[in-house]
Parts: sequence; C-alpha cells; structure tokens
Amino acid sequence: MPTGRHIQRRTVLGGAVAAGAVAAAGAGGAAGGRPAAAADRPETRGHGGREVALITGTSSGFGHLTALTLARGGLRVFASMRDTRGANAAAARRLRGAVAKQDLDVHVVDIDVRDDDSVDRGVDRVLRRAGRIDVLVNNAGVFYPAILETQTVEDVRAVFETNVFGHLRVNRAVLPAMRARGEGLVVQTTTSLGRFVFPFMGAYVGTKWAMEAMAEASRYELRRLGVDVVIVEPGAYNTDFVDPNGVRYYDRYLRGLDRGNARRRAAYGDLARRAEEHLVEEPGLPDPQEVADAIAGLVRTPSAERPVRLPVAGAADFLGEVHTVHAEFQRTVMESAGYGDLL
Ligand SMILES: NC(=O)c1ccc[n+]([C@@H]2O[C@H](COP(=O)([O-])OP(=O)(O)OC[C@H]3O[C@@H](n4cnc5c(N)ncnc54)[C@H](OP(=O)(O)O)[C@@H]3O)[C@@H](O)[C@H]2O)c1
Repeated sequence: MPTGRHIQRRTVLGGAVAAGAVAAAGAGGAAGGRPAAAADRPETRGHGGREVALITGTSSGFGHLTALTLARGGLRVFASMRDTRGANAAAARRLRGAVAKQDLDVHVVDIDVRDDDSVDRGVDRVLRRAGRIDVLVNNAGVFYPAILETQTVEDVRAVFETNVFGHLRVNRAVLPAMRARGEGLVVQTTTSLGRFVFPFMGAYVGTKWAMEAMAEASRYELRRLGVDVVIVEPGAYNTDFVDPNGVRYYDRYLRGLDRGNARRRAAYGDLARRAEEHLVEEPGLPDPQEVADAIAGLVRTPSAERPVRLPVAGAADFLGEVHTVHAEFQRTVMESAGYGDLL
C-alpha cells in the first residue's frame, strides 16, 4: 500500500465515494460502468415485464436501501429478511410502510440464509410469483470482532454460516433459474476488507476473503452461461452493522467467555480490548445510500461492461491498485493454466 495515505480503521471496514468507486471498478477487470441516478429506469432486456430482484438481509442498512432504490428504478423487488413475524416484524412493517407511501413494487419474503429450507422455500415463492429472478443481491451479513484465538469455534462457524454458506445457499437456490434463462446478475456484497486484513476481526475478514474467492471462481464458471457475478466492496458506513449488531455480538462474547477462553484473553494483556476499537462508529462516514446507488448502477450497466469488483467508498483508490495487480496476475495464471477462454 502506498505510504503517505492514511486509511482510518472504520473507513475501510468494509472499502472514495461512489463516483471514485466506479472509476476504480475498471481496475477489477472489465471497464466499470457509470452508475446512473437511482431514479433512472433499468435497461430492458427483451423479455418483457419488469426485471425481478431478490435481496437478502433487507431489515436494515444497505439491504433496506437497495430494495427501495431498485424498486424506484422500476424493478419488482423481493426483499427478504429472516423472522418477519418475530424479531423483524417491525422491520418488515417499516419497509412495507415506505413501499406503500412511494407506491413501489416490493414484497417482503422470509429468508434466513442460514437455513436450507428457509432459503429454498423463499426462493421458490419468488419464482412461483414472479417466474424469474434477474438480479440477486447477496447482502446479509454479520460482524463478530474479537481476538480470533478467544472466539469459540461455534462463533467463528456462525460468521461463516451467514456470510459464506448463507450466500452459497442462496446462490444454489437461484442459479438454476438464471442459467435456464441464460441471463442474470449476482451481486456479492463483501467489503474492502475482502482484499486486506485488520487484526481483531479475523473471523469476519476470513469470511469476506472466502466470499471474494468463491465469487470470482463462480464468475468464470457462469460467464458463458449468461450469468454475471460482481463483487461489491463497500467502505465503512453507519448502518446497524457495527452498532447495534456487532456490539450485541461482542456483549454476548464477553458474557459467554468460559474460563479457558478468559485465560486465553488475559494472555493478550492490553491487546484484549483492541477489538472494541472496531465497535466505535466514526463520525462523518458517507451516506449508505451510495452503496444502494452503486448496486442500482450495476443493474443498469450492460453485462459486458460490468467489473469483477466494485469498491464503494473508503479505500477505493487503494483497492483500485490492488485490483489492477490482481487482474493482471489472474489473467496470466488463467491463460497459462488453459482457462483464458473463461476470462
Ligand atoms: N456497514 C458497513 O460499514 C459495511 C462495510 C462493508 C461491507 N458491509 C457489508 O454489507 C452487508 C450489509 O451490512 P449493513 O452495513 O447494511 O449492516 P446491517 O444494517 O446490520 O444489515 C445486515 C443485514 O443482514 C441481515 N442478516 C444477518 N443474518 C441474517 C440471516 N441469517 N438471514 C438473513 N438476513 C440476515 C440482518 O438482519 P437481522 O436484522 O435479522 O440481523 C440485516 O438485515 C453485510 O454483508 C456487510 O458485511 C458493511
């Protein structure tokens, strides 16, 4: 990373403003498209009717905003969240209220990405009602910061279960319908931390690196079948992600430390509290609507021009450099391994 440029910790918790992000996107592979204004209508693709989007984790944050933004852009949106009759009943009401006021085509669907049946039932419901899914936005995610050695395997597994296997589950449910139609766009929400590492959030960063690798592999595998996979790498934004959700985890972690893990934690001395620095929201972070607008821009961008990676805010300039080097290296490796035709 070039010296003389300072990256704030929370600024990159997730990845320059959306405009800078799109400029950097070209470095990730194909040229970046220019995200148009959120209110623009999406391109029509010759199959008639509204394009259909399914989004995971729409109870708050980027997911909620993306649901409204894509719908304002003319898509029919299935906004999924878990436990719509329980913990997320208020969130579902809030979204339905916003939709009713703006007369948008948004339907709330119950999907818990950790549960095979819930995912299969939810996706099946969307396909029965809408007949197709053109755009899938894998957005649901959790943030469990702590010194890695002091986290239980169950805690680390829980982050992977949502952030990695959750997306895999939803992709497996949605891709057959996209492949059958020979078109589709899958957006994988990672973070700029999918390309570098901070301590005290190893489990989270591990999931995002895994997602980046799996998404890039899927992109090569699916390209010829007409399905695009694009990785969106947001920077830090004040959503519910860190506070209350991350903070809630950390409280649980502290209360649940057994004697063995408490001893492990004590062995780190002063370092033991450094994870808490990741739980403090920085003032002046950008508007999370930028991420929703960037995703809407991807939907409107012609397939051949969509980037592999789209950094949004935070460290987009640094990431652009990383993506350029990675893209060159990746091309060389793929071509020399006989996979040049899949690029
Ligand atoms: N905010 C940032 O600074 C930042 C930066 C980079 C990347 N990101 C990424 O952006 C994505 C969205 O985060 P956000 O910032 O919008 O945070 P958020 O407001 O906390 O949203 C996360 C969403 O994921 C949902 N979710 C968690 N577990 C789920 C499950 N098992 N099934 C279905 N939904 C589940 C949450 O629902 P519940 O309410 O039910 O928990 C919530 O709606 C995440 O993937 C995150 O890694 C965030």
